[in-house]
Amino acid sequence: MSRQSPVAGRQGLDLCAVALRGPVLNGSGTFDAIAARRAFGDALLERFPFDAFVSKTITLAPREGNPPPRLWETPAGLINSIGLPNKGLDGFLAGDLPQLAELPVPLVVSVMGFSRDELATLVERVGERDEVAMIELNVSCPNVETGLVMGADPAETAAAVERVRPLTAKPVIVKLTPNANEPAGVAEAAESAGADAVSLINTLKGMALHPGTRRPWLGGGTGGVSGPAVRAVALEQVHSVAGRVSIPVIGMGGIASGAHAAEFLAAGARCVAVGTESFRDPSAGRRIGAELTSLVGASLAFQDH
Ligand SMILES: Cc1cc2nc3c(=O)[nH]c(=O)nc-3n(C[C@H](O)[C@H](O)[C@H](O)COP(=O)(O)O)c2cc1C
Repeated sequence: MSRQSPVAGRQGLDLCAVALRGPVLNGSGTFDAIAARRAFGDALLERFPFDAFVSKTITLAPREGNPPPRLWETPAGLINSIGLPNKGLDGFLAGDLPQLAELPVPLVVSVMGFSRDELATLVERVGERDEVAMIELNVSCPNVETGLVMGADPAETAAAVERVRPLTAKPVIVKLTPNANEPAGVAEAAESAGADAVSLINTLKGMALHPGTRRPWLGGGTGGVSGPAVRAVALEQVHSVAGRVSIPVIGMGGIASGAHAAEFLAAGARCVAVGTESFRDPSAGRRIGAELTSLVGASLAFQDH
């Protein structure tokens, strides 16, 4: 596998032929750039924390998301049951896209469809917009036609990627779920079907009980675990996936420092993404990028594939 030094942040790098000034992205759904712009004004643009921005996942129809409460803090991260609230495709294109297009970095739009047709419409309509550099497929959802979680099954994932691949010339990233028997097998299927990159990990399925009632705390019943608690799981999955595909891997899961990011790069990731840490420190992406740059020259030798 040919690899460009990912820590060469100062010179920049490319992800699927899109030039990036460095390797630190945000995890979809964990940084609201529109709210941050409202709060910080143009200072956000001058000191934007990420080298590319990934939108929160959008769906074809608008969604209200899950009933509250939506977050539970664990000793080492979060369990979220947000449920993908969003304005739907038309609302996103008309309302959010023009604002996200003002960000000083390439824009990745994350989409989720509950059928292959829905996914196809999303990819086609998002892909025709010049403001969009790449499209990420969030496949952590059931296909209503088959009942299978798309990203948990290699054949489902391949069918979804094959369906959308001819519809856009933009790079397509498949965001893998860790809740699969063998994420590396799903990654291989995505690559064979034409994916340009894979990103991982999405959240692990989890649950919290109300301490008094011992009933599920989260309005959605169960949720997704993220943050430091999942880092070791993510690192292993990134390493195993990077050994099985030749397309770039974007690694995430509990990254909170440049040293953590360097570990993911050493495990075979081309880029990293920061999620839960941005809730604690909205400028975390910038700090992690700077820490990573200061590690230039440090050995990233571990790959062992
Ligand atoms: C509050 C919250 C919302 C999220 N929303 C999305 C989403 O809309 N789409 C998606 O693909 N992943 C979503 N994720 C998953 C993250 O992008 C990321 O894959 C995961 O949290 C692991 O990274 P982390 O441990 O650094 O947070 C969300 C995570 C959190 C904590």
